Amino acid sequence: MRVAVTGAAGQIGYSLLFRIASGEMLGKDQPVILQLLDLPQAQKAVKGVMMELEDCAFPLLAGMVATDDPNVAFKDADVCLLVGARPRGPGMERADLLTANGAIFTVQGKAIAENANENVRVLVVGNPCNTNAYIARAAAIKVGRTNPDNYHGMLRLDHNRALSQLAAKTGRPVASLKKMVVWGNHSPSMYADYRFCESNGDSVKALVNDHAWNNDVFLPTVGKRGAAIIEARGLSSAASAANAAIDHVRDWVLGSDDWVTMGVPSDGSYGIPEGIVFGVPCECKDGQFKVIKGLEIDEYSQGKISITLKELEDERAAVADMLK
Ligand code: NAI
Repeated sequence: MRVAVTGAAGQIGYSLLFRIASGEMLGKDQPVILQLLDLPQAQKAVKGVMMELEDCAFPLLAGMVATDDPNVAFKDADVCLLVGARPRGPGMERADLLTANGAIFTVQGKAIAENANENVRVLVVGNPCNTNAYIARAAAIKVGRTNPDNYHGMLRLDHNRALSQLAAKTGRPVASLKKMVVWGNHSPSMYADYRFCESNGDSVKALVNDHAWNNDVFLPTVGKRGAAIIEARGLSSAASAANAAIDHVRDWVLGSDDWVTMGVPSDGSYGIPEGIVFGVPCECKDGQFKVIKGLEIDEYSQGKISITLKELEDERAAVADMLK
């Protein structure tokens, strides 16, 4: 399988590429070809990463290409991991950030639709990842060819962060926790919802039984975890972000026996307007994902979902002109 990774010279790229090449994402019997995209000024660093990949002598690594041309990077790609994005610079407003990234993701969405495998799976990691995925998908739809459902944003890091916090609170092993959901935007507004979560048949909500902890500790901890990592490490989350990307794509391609949170283009369920890339619970089987429908949304949850939806609707409005 051909895996295109953008931002290959960056810190997430450095945690991601070795794990893809070792078979952790697509399976231990699936050879991979890595197609690495980064900016012209980062090509030397990409070459350095490729030298290290060579030095691992991964049996599954069947080839590598480095390029600054999206048409080359996405050629015949089966999976595209869009990690590279424009970071927020000093004095940059959120609207400027959305526009700068809009320019990148319209080009990349078009290049994917024109060059990749028709069944390509796309995961956007680069922030603001939901809206970047929305933009790439909109650009791809204009070209046709690829499946518009297959343009995802990454909520899996929030999902994994929520699982760890719940494991610590309940004293139950992470592996025992099933049916976690994170609704909405990958931003502090996301709503991590453990109302359906089970641990060895026990309701996690009943085990926690502490609404104040949910509202005042759990949600802010998960929502602001990215900022807490930057504060502690001096750099943004990288290995955990790469790990979440591996989890998302592995479950999508190889399946999972648990619910997984994916940022997927809405089909209108849960009152989310069609096309908005929103974190929802999904089941993955036979290489397909399916949104889990019909979950009860209580008043508290609806309030939280409406806040994160409003943020995404505002982001959509801010990039609307670029998509005409
Ligand atoms: P980084 O700054 O270390 O690396 C970014 C790389 O992307 C650089 O090599 C840069 O040259 C490249 N790049 C920039 N524009 C590009 C373009 N148009 N085409 C190809 N490559 C391009 O950043 P890092 O730490 O690897 O993070 C990457 C992105 O992931 C950031 O936007 C960050 O906010 C986001 N992120 C998302 C998370 C999530 O849960 N969705 C979690 C953590 C980070």
